Amino acid sequence: MQSLNVKIPAAEKNCPIIIDNNDIPALYGEVVDITGKNNCLAVISEKVFKLYGNFLNLPKERIFILKDGEKEKNLKTCQKILERALKLNLTRKDYIIAAGGGVCGDIAGFAASVYMRGIHLIQIPTTLLACVDSSVGGKTGVDTKWGKNLIGSFYQPDCVLINTNFLKTLDDRQFKTGLGEVVKYAFIEKSCGCSEDFGLINYLSLNSGKILSRSSKTLEELIKICISLKISVVEKDEKEGNLRKILNFGHTCAHAIEKLTNYRKYTHGEAVVKGIEFAFDFAYKRGDILESYKFVAEDLIKKYNFKKIPDFDIKKVLPAMKLDKKAESGGIVFILPSDCASVKEYKMVDNEILKYFC
Ligand SMILES: NC(=O)c1ccc[n+]([C@@H]2O[C@H](COP(=O)([O-])OP(=O)(O)OC[C@H]3O[C@@H](n4cnc5c(N)ncnc54)[C@H](O)[C@@H]3O)[C@@H](O)[C@H]2O)c1
Repeated sequence: MQSLNVKIPAAEKNCPIIIDNNDIPALYGEVVDITGKNNCLAVISEKVFKLYGNFLNLPKERIFILKDGEKEKNLKTCQKILERALKLNLTRKDYIIAAGGGVCGDIAGFAASVYMRGIHLIQIPTTLLACVDSSVGGKTGVDTKWGKNLIGSFYQPDCVLINTNFLKTLDDRQFKTGLGEVVKYAFIEKSCGCSEDFGLINYLSLNSGKILSRSSKTLEELIKICISLKISVVEKDEKEGNLRKILNFGHTCAHAIEKLTNYRKYTHGEAVVKGIEFAFDFAYKRGDILESYKFVAEDLIKKYNFKKIPDFDIKKVLPAMKLDKKAESGGIVFILPSDCASVKEYKMVDNEILKYFC
């Protein structure tokens, strides 16, 4: 078992993160240790409920089954969760538990943040992406027809319970989606300001076999490294005023690709990997990095055999990049590699970008 802790002074919350590979039913005891005699409403992803059953031993009315897919991450579903909580008379002392991937964690977390202006929240992430990224750091939200995650809040959970056994039933594509975010951490490691040096680029290069075969011990270690890096960033900048922007490495381009393909053709992680490749190419063309470092990145990405996204016409992608909610007036914000495992933020107007690609 590995244990970490997020301390965000402004949120006045300490959030323990427990990573283990006990049998899934043991989670029931872990949850009861936290919630005590208080009531709970569990928002459980439909697929997770089908695969693992009622592992939290809750009565039917205390389980909200969340249908599968990003399209469910909307205000209407959130309202249904809130109405169920009201029907159950949950008070601020009670708990909402999110058990599922990032979709489940984001919507249940948002519901928890607005229910009576904030009810307790436990995250039980069941996808690799949710384990290494979305369950930690306190970003919650829902999508609207105007874009993804445009309505949301910063709301830290009381606890994150990670069990690597869930990852055994992920299909290959979903597993790789999480690995896309893992690779991102490797290239930003030194900029995260973490006191420990993990050498994640090397770690990923040396352990690709064990990671791809989902060795529990290796996954536990890998998740611990990624979360340590995320905590290091989030503790310094919870609300993305500055440093937290580095977590968007690869994402300016990824969000544009996802938008242009209606969020259907590629998973988020696949788009992030393409975004990372774009960022390396861009930084190399600008003269920010040596060719040898670009090759290191390309070799690492090759080892994980991500789904290939064809090259795109930058003129078509630029307008979509400007629609990203992280875009700022006066230019598009890019996080680009600057040195080994380090990145820097740049704001650029169209011409500054186009001259390297046309
Ligand atoms: N809050 C944040 O900081 C943050 C960060 C990154 C991404 N996100 C959000 O996360 C979401 C994507 O998350 P995701 O990739 O986990 O997608 P997801 O939640 O849609 O899960 C992917 C698929 O895996 C299935 N699944 C979940 N657990 C499983 C298991 N153990 N075994 C088999 N199948 C399982 C789900 O039912 C779903 O079909 C997006 O909405 C994105 O905006 C949030």
